[in-house]
Amino acid sequence: MLENQTCVVTGSSRGIGRGIAEELGRHGANVVVNYRSSEAGAREAVEAIEDAGGDAIAAQADVSDFEAVQAMREEVHDAFGSVDVLVNNAGITIDKKFENMTKEDWETVMRVNLGGVFNCTKIFFEDVKAADHGRLVNISSVVGQQGNYGQANYAATKSGLFGFTRTLALELASTGSTANCVAPGFVETDMLEDVPERVQEKIIDRIPLNRFATVDDIAGIVRFVASEESSYMTGQILGVNGGMEW
Ligand SMILES: NC(=O)c1ccc[n+]([C@@H]2O[C@H](COP(=O)([O-])OP(=O)(O)OC[C@H]3O[C@@H](n4cnc5c(N)ncnc54)[C@H](OP(=O)(O)O)[C@@H]3O)[C@@H](O)[C@H]2O)c1
Repeated sequence: MLENQTCVVTGSSRGIGRGIAEELGRHGANVVVNYRSSEAGAREAVEAIEDAGGDAIAAQADVSDFEAVQAMREEVHDAFGSVDVLVNNAGITIDKKFENMTKEDWETVMRVNLGGVFNCTKIFFEDVKAADHGRLVNISSVVGQQGNYGQANYAATKSGLFGFTRTLALELASTGSTANCVAPGFVETDMLEDVPERVQEKIIDRIPLNRFATVDDIAGIVRFVASEESSYMTGQILGVNGGMEW
């Protein structure tokens, strides 16, 4: 389904990004497994994709560093040529009540979660625009829809992706390429492990399906959005959150 498509997945050495990279690879895409520091995880993801018959490279770049992303583009072009699908997945949290949140806590999260999306989208924009059915997929969060105690910085970045995505959808529309957001609920990854157990229990009580999402719950939806099957869908937010309200 994704044969001959080159897909860049930012932050795919672990967690949701890794699940997405492996899912796209299993469906025939050439996958760029971007990472910041988890080289071993990125190499394992590449091996998993190759073992499933796909093609992949690991590419180190901190998405918040514009020059590093530019260098990654060269690496990607040398390996696979122009990019068809960009999945902006890399993201971080620094959780604190707002009254304890420092300017640095705010700016660090902005630099990665929004600055990184700007950098990668800017650098791969011409590729996605020129692709036969180019896809920009931004990984937001239910927290961008609901807000969440202790996550003012993170929630602001994840809501910010909605306006960004809708605007890019309009600017890409004449080319047939699309831009959409996938907004997961709470997913079993290292990010959720950082949340204290008593808070996790309270979160489960708010999820109608009564469980956290698995990485695969999210990866399958992203694969659909990345595929040709989603051609008439653009500027949308796909909530994958077990039925949580927003
Ligand atoms: N887990 C959830 O409950 C949940 C829910 C909704 C949305 N999301 C969103 O889904 C995305 C992935 O979350 P996750 O739970 O899978 O996180 P995770 O397990 O903490 O993994 C984060 C990934 O992002 C990479 N990364 C972080 N900063 C980076 C940077 N500056 N440059 C390049 N890569 C960077 C990490 O690479 P290194 O290991 O190399 O640093 C890692 O591969 C995030 O955008 C998050 O906001 C998560």
